[in-house]
Amino acid sequence: MNEKSQEKILILDFGSQYAQLIARRVREQRVFCEIVPCKIEPKRVQESNAKGLIFSGGPASVYAEGAPQCDPKLLRLGLPVLGICYGMQLGCRLLGGNVSSARAREYGHRRVRVVDRSDLFRGLDDDLAVWMSHGDQVDDPGPDFAPLARTDTCPYAAVRHTDLPFFGVQFHPEVTHTPFGDRMFHNFLFRICGCSGNWKMTDFIERSVADIRSQTADAGVVCGLSGGVDSAVTAAIVHRAVGDKLTCILVDNGLLRGGEAESVRTAFEDHFHARLNVVDAAHLFLDRLKGVTDPEAKRKTIGHTFIEVFEAEARKLRNARFLAQGTLYPDVIESSSPLGGPSATIKTHHHAGGLPEKLGFELIEPLRLLFKDEVRALGAALGLPEDLIWRHPFPGPGLAVRIIGEITPDRLDALRKADRILLDEVRAAGWYRKIAQCFAVLLPGASVGVMGDERTYAHVVAVRAVESQDFMTADWVHLPHDLLAAIANRVINEVKNVNRVVYDISSKPPSTIEWE
Ligand code: XMP
Repeated sequence: MNEKSQEKILILDFGSQYAQLIARRVREQRVFCEIVPCKIEPKRVQESNAKGLIFSGGPASVYAEGAPQCDPKLLRLGLPVLGICYGMQLGCRLLGGNVSSARAREYGHRRVRVVDRSDLFRGLDDDLAVWMSHGDQVDDPGPDFAPLARTDTCPYAAVRHTDLPFFGVQFHPEVTHTPFGDRMFHNFLFRICGCSGNWKMTDFIERSVADIRSQTADAGVVCGLSGGVDSAVTAAIVHRAVGDKLTCILVDNGLLRGGEAESVRTAFEDHFHARLNVVDAAHLFLDRLKGVTDPEAKRKTIGHTFIEVFEAEARKLRNARFLAQGTLYPDVIESSSPLGGPSATIKTHHHAGGLPEKLGFELIEPLRLLFKDEVRALGAALGLPEDLIWRHPFPGPGLAVRIIGEITPDRLDALRKADRILLDEVRAAGWYRKIAQCFAVLLPGASVGVMGDERTYAHVVAVRAVESQDFMTADWVHLPHDLLAAIANRVINEVKNVNRVVYDISSKPPSTIEWE
């Protein structure tokens, strides 16, 4: 991306659990933003051409030893700064105010009374619901600050500096419990920072395509497709940039869902006319998985075999110097350590972990600044089929971790059919887009049933459907009974060797989403 021309806001991370939420709120206003370590140098901020800064909250007390700091010069660059909670306390302190431990810790829903509606609170009511979570507060910001809002226990719930464009709020406008938060961000971004809200997917595509072209020059690019949305969107944008210099590789490990390899092939070969090598390695994977029942052993076997197969295929491509990967923003945010950053917590892609170094590839990560929903919007703008864009996440080890115990062709076949029926029914009932993930699991052992006059002894299938924002926590979905009944009926009638279907009603934690 062309750093200079992109209108942007920088969010300085002081260790807040909400830094990503702040970024989401800013981008919802069509203003691009990046989360950066709080130690960022003023020179880098100036070079970035940022239109404003947001200081995030953080768990520390500004007076605590080792509490995250920023360079005080940042407050005097002439750029508007919005300090949130810790960010406010730090800003006020650096500008001569006094922060102290609050007499009453404020946590949860509170109401603020607005006393100045000229800028940050423009267009808002006098009395507003906010979300607070702080111990310290600004007690006496001194003569250089004007109050903008207060609560019963916090006289300076929001302030502004009288000369510098520094604003501070003690509450959290980024959480949904502060219902007017979007309006406040709007005021800050448009009124105070002078943003124009020009962050559009089409611009992103143009910039990204230009960047990929200049980065790769005439060299070839390899992209591993997994069937998931991230790798598909990565391949689509790289294809737009380099055309037939891109070769996609899809390793069919025999553990994909029914029809998955085919739909990827249709999208990339028929629709984009991209070069796609589908490597049928099902036998190799299934051979190596014979007798393996331990979940971690399955993952390791699959991971190593994948690298081996992918590597052999990629080595055939003489001119390839780059590997495109679908790493997303939450994986690369470098400021996870508020004190120093960049501590680069880069999660290696489950498929291609270690491949770039091993093969001497240089990495291209076109999605590295995007959140998942933005990736979906990008996929749509690039013309990917809806079916691919809205696909639920599917684990790298595939159906192997959804067959509890040993993986045999017979059990794989039963699971694939049951899973297909489940997805068909969930889609037909209009539930697919409403839930984060749903899938079938084949349980170990067998259960007794009766069909006709015969006693049966056959597989049990579990159905799992979860709602989740981040997949770190998840709730089971209350699917309608009629839908569950339809799924169970069809699975038992249509899948040979299955005589029982159960519904998983556990949430995460304490369970996990996958069974293995
Ligand atoms: P758990 O089971 O840990 O799953 O609650 C959270 C999310 O991660 C996916 N998952 C995996 N993805 N390789 C992957 O690429 C894996 O080994 C793996 N295990 C779980 C799971 O589908 C859910 O979306």
